[in-house]
Amino acid sequence: THDTCSPPARPALHFTPPGGWMNDPNGLVFFDDEYHLFYQYYPHDRVWGPMHWGHAVSRDLVTWETLPTALSPDEAGMCFSGSAIVDEHDESGLFAGERGLAAFYTVHRPLSDDPQDYRQAQCLAVSDDRGRSWRRYTGNPLIESPGIKDFRDPKVFWHAPSRRWVMALACGQVIHFYVSENLLDWRLVSEFGEGQGAHTGHPWECPDLFELPVEGAGSGEPDSRWVLVVGIGASDDNAFGSFTQYFIGHFDGVRFHNENPADRLLMMDEGRDFYAVQSWSGIPERDGRRLVIAWMSNWQYANQTPESGWRGAMSFPRELSLIATAEGVRLRQRFAGELTRLPWRHCSGIEPLVLTAGRHVLANPASGQVQGRLTLAMAPQGRVEIDIQQGGHQRLVVTRQADGLRLSHWRRGENGQVAFDSHYPHAHDVGHLPGTRVTLEWLLDEGSLELLIDDGRISLTHLSFAEPARLPLAIEVLAGTCRVEALALCSLEDH
Ligand code: FRU
Repeated sequence: THDTCSPPARPALHFTPPGGWMNDPNGLVFFDDEYHLFYQYYPHDRVWGPMHWGHAVSRDLVTWETLPTALSPDEAGMCFSGSAIVDEHDESGLFAGERGLAAFYTVHRPLSDDPQDYRQAQCLAVSDDRGRSWRRYTGNPLIESPGIKDFRDPKVFWHAPSRRWVMALACGQVIHFYVSENLLDWRLVSEFGEGQGAHTGHPWECPDLFELPVEGAGSGEPDSRWVLVVGIGASDDNAFGSFTQYFIGHFDGVRFHNENPADRLLMMDEGRDFYAVQSWSGIPERDGRRLVIAWMSNWQYANQTPESGWRGAMSFPRELSLIATAEGVRLRQRFAGELTRLPWRHCSGIEPLVLTAGRHVLANPASGQVQGRLTLAMAPQGRVEIDIQQGGHQRLVVTRQADGLRLSHWRRGENGQVAFDSHYPHAHDVGHLPGTRVTLEWLLDEGSLELLIDDGRISLTHLSFAEPARLPLAIEVLAGTCRVEALALCSLEDH
């Protein structure tokens, strides 16, 4: 047995930096058939340090080509998180009439040795060679802080109805909205957040805002909503660490209106390792996908996770949609369709079967990369623990109750012992499902487990440093019985 978690091998399906440290995805933009992924990067150590923008591109969202670091700290400060867009018609006048890429980032300038003493402002860098090289706008900063210390993470998008650019920016514990006609001159038009959603001892971070159609909204007019995504960092008053909340409502180009009760907290992911999520801009209308990626870690322990030469991994890219539920419109997530195009082999399934008390091994994956789907129907009084692969390292607990199913999850340190950080092992409530049936879909790779429950209505993302990574899928029936209605499990070729 080990008393520490094992260092991860390179994941095959998830982006990791070539070395050093990585946190938030930045500047996600699709341009000339390439998905760009920039990221908060410290190349010189495997802990957080003066922030750069690392860079990679992909055509299939699975294989990534590393490109030179796009932005490095200079006299103005470090390069914190931000976004990128395509300036299609040279509205900025910075591309000599051509189209180009514009990246908006926060400069973070320490003012003394005290890490809490700093100033933040919004800046612009542009590229006219498909993101291969970047020059900083000479008029930086675009937006000076109005005296708010935490003033960061600009997310810029084109708002077609008002024919101007909008920037969502985290300011203390609210989001500020700025607008611009030329990407250079910005004015503050509204703010959102006071008394809304979750507030902890940590500022809000990494906002995103986009519109999506509502699926299954019934007959009549096509329906849509705006989704405002907001991260909250780890603080001592919050045992969950950093997490991502979202709001559903309307945005008229000036103001965001939350259509749910102000105190209703909607979690984008019920797991502990899904943070700083951002959506890709520049995806053509005809494709229409709202693709996102998140950093898979938690500020509670991100600097301490087991490492083997690099620290940090991104989630698998996901596609977002909205569905109408009894409680209102809610987000749904799916793994980006590119996942199905991989050479999945060794697929196994089983005939429907009833499981009684005890542990049942259902399938044995052939490699550490697994895509699975399982539908369970729970009998009255039924209670099971699903051991997706990690030999008891992580389990999803499903309990039948009078009004449906209760889901909870726990993760232990290696072999049940406390792992590298006391915050890593945990147990918590995941949610409630009406009915008696649950469908799980998951993606397992070295170092992580991403679980989508109930057709992606609940998402659960966790780092998973278990040894060995490849263990059978098992269900332990603790009470009553359950029926396995469907199971499909495929592995990638070992590599
Ligand atoms: C979120 C965050 C951002 C900031 C960046 C610094 O994880 O704290 O708010 O820009 O990380 O690396």
